[in-house]
Amino acid sequence: MILVLGATGTVGRPVVEELVEQGHRVRALSRAPERAGLPGKVEVLRGSAADEASVAAALEGVRSVFVILSGDVAEQAAAFAEAVTGADPGRRSRLEHIVLLSSASVLHPLEHGIAADHRRAEESVRGIGVPWTFLRPGPFHSNSTWWAQGIRETGVARCLIGNQPGAPIDESDIAAAAVTVLTGEGHGGRSYELTGPEVITSAEQVTAIGAVLGRDLGFEVAPPGQVVDTFTSITGDREAAVTNVRALHSPQVPWARAKDTVERLTGRPPRTFQEWARDNADLFR
Ligand SMILES: NC(=O)c1ccc[n+]([C@@H]2O[C@H](COP(=O)([O-])OP(=O)(O)OC[C@H]3O[C@@H](n4cnc5c(N)ncnc54)[C@H](OP(=O)(O)O)[C@@H]3O)[C@@H](O)[C@H]2O)c1
Repeated sequence: MILVLGATGTVGRPVVEELVEQGHRVRALSRAPERAGLPGKVEVLRGSAADEASVAAALEGVRSVFVILSGDVAEQAAAFAEAVTGADPGRRSRLEHIVLLSSASVLHPLEHGIAADHRRAEESVRGIGVPWTFLRPGPFHSNSTWWAQGIRETGVARCLIGNQPGAPIDESDIAAAAVTVLTGEGHGGRSYELTGPEVITSAEQVTAIGAVLGRDLGFEVAPPGQVVDTFTSITGDREAAVTNVRALHSPQVPWARAKDTVERLTGRPPRTFQEWARDNADLFR
């Protein structure tokens, strides 16, 4: 049995679908099982990483766990780790492997809030004492949906994270890598940095979206000071917002070069942003 936390989200859903397709038994945690919309064969339980009792209960008979955290990743990972270590030994007796969706930000040379939170999450998972694997993707292709409203309404994409070149990754490739790691052997104690196949700027991503729409789109980078205000209004943490904006606007982002990890894990090249834009064009119309 494979347990997936965060199963209804961007990465979790394609992972669950592929695991079921391959014939694996899957259990998922969702805060709203009635709305999860996962394949019928999936056992969906109410809960989340932040709800320790739900995690402990869901461990029965589980061999591998895929941990996807959303929101306060450091706090949720600590709660998850406490739930696993505190669970009845009988409940976790078959647990062999924990895979965490972490972030390439942990490799960033500039200290910042996102990196610190994911490092703490990795430490919590490492501390459980069960073989672990960390998946460390850079920015997802789907982050470009942040521009959808602006493109639809004004024909302009306003970018909050600067315009540094990087190799964003398709969420389906993260999912494929996760399935490989969850179902294969020899991944314990390893961390995988995941990128897409090509280095591209945000402005070039907007041009690619425009190409599939048949429109000339505008592009602007929001001034860092304004982005700090925006991030602070969401999280309430101005210090983290300042360091995060500095790191995201830096040319030293760890995903500045494309890696071959996805192809090594999955046996096929990762998808380009152009492919993602073509498949998701309706979001921008
Ligand atoms: N976006 C990027 O560019 C990027 C890059 C690198 C790493 N990451 C990391 O990837 C992870 C997110 O993956 P994802 O995008 O697949 O997740 P997601 O779609 O944001 O969320 C996954 C699921 O988590 C549950 N959830 C959402 N908010 C929650 C909250 N506040 N508390 C508890 N559960 C919550 C929801 O499921 P239910 O409603 O069914 O409970 C949701 O479907 C994060 O750790 C992020 O830091 C993201």
